[in-house]
Amino acid sequence: MIEYDKDAIVPPYITEYLRGEIPPHHGILKELEEYAAEHEIPIIQPETAQFLKVIGSIIRPHDILEVGAAIGYSSILMADTLADGGKIVTMEYDGDMARIARENIRRAGLYDTITLAEGDAKDLMPNIGGQYDMIFLDGPKAHYIYMLNDCLRLLRPGGVLIADNVLYKGMTADDGHVIRRKITIVKRLRHFVSALYARSELTTSVLPLGDGITISVKNKEKV
Ligand SMILES: C[S@@+](CC[C@H](N)C(=O)[O-])C[C@H]1O[C@@H](n2cnc3c(N)ncnc32)[C@H](O)[C@@H]1O
Repeated sequence: MIEYDKDAIVPPYITEYLRGEIPPHHGILKELEEYAAEHEIPIIQPETAQFLKVIGSIIRPHDILEVGAAIGYSSILMADTLADGGKIVTMEYDGDMARIARENIRRAGLYDTITLAEGDAKDLMPNIGGQYDMIFLDGPKAHYIYMLNDCLRLLRPGGVLIADNVLYKGMTADDGHVIRRKITIVKRLRHFVSALYARSELTTSVLPLGDGITISVKNKEKV
């Protein structure tokens, strides 16, 4: 029996149905799912994992940037969708997580494909260069809004920005759901969602999937 968060934004019977249909992972991804469950490490939910696989398979990105590696689960999962010779840069500021992620990346045979940048994404983002086909924000929720300009700078035209946990157990959508100590994160997530819709360079959709996910495409110039 799956344990459901009582504050989940999707009713448990829908989640149970969806999770029952998604083909299970094997090998290292399965191992990491078990490790994360045992050690209460918040990796992406199965529906979100499936969503990333579909988007990645549509884009076939050559370059992916991720904020929030944890134990490396989502970067190892996304590596499967890369174009030939493609690369992932993933950021993590917790030293223990970074060490475990590096070890998992090595065990997955992806040492040359995934680079873990250890440090605070707030400091790393303004200093990173390159152009990315896909950016996945899954780190500090309160700082998504401050990373938006850098994401726009780093995204190729036609590139896709995805951010997880934007509905934040419903708190982003409704004051009645807000836990007092989370108010700053909630305000900043609301600001982030509004900013995504307001930016003329982006076309955005917010999906009530998992804990809420945004997907934005950086518009190409019309010719
Ligand atoms: C939700 S977990 C990431 C899960 C991962 N994407 C996955 O699904 O496998 C968020 C991670 O972001 C990291 N993090 C939080 N704030 C950060 C920051 N300012 N810079 C870098 N990493 C950060 C946390 O240490 C944590 O490991």
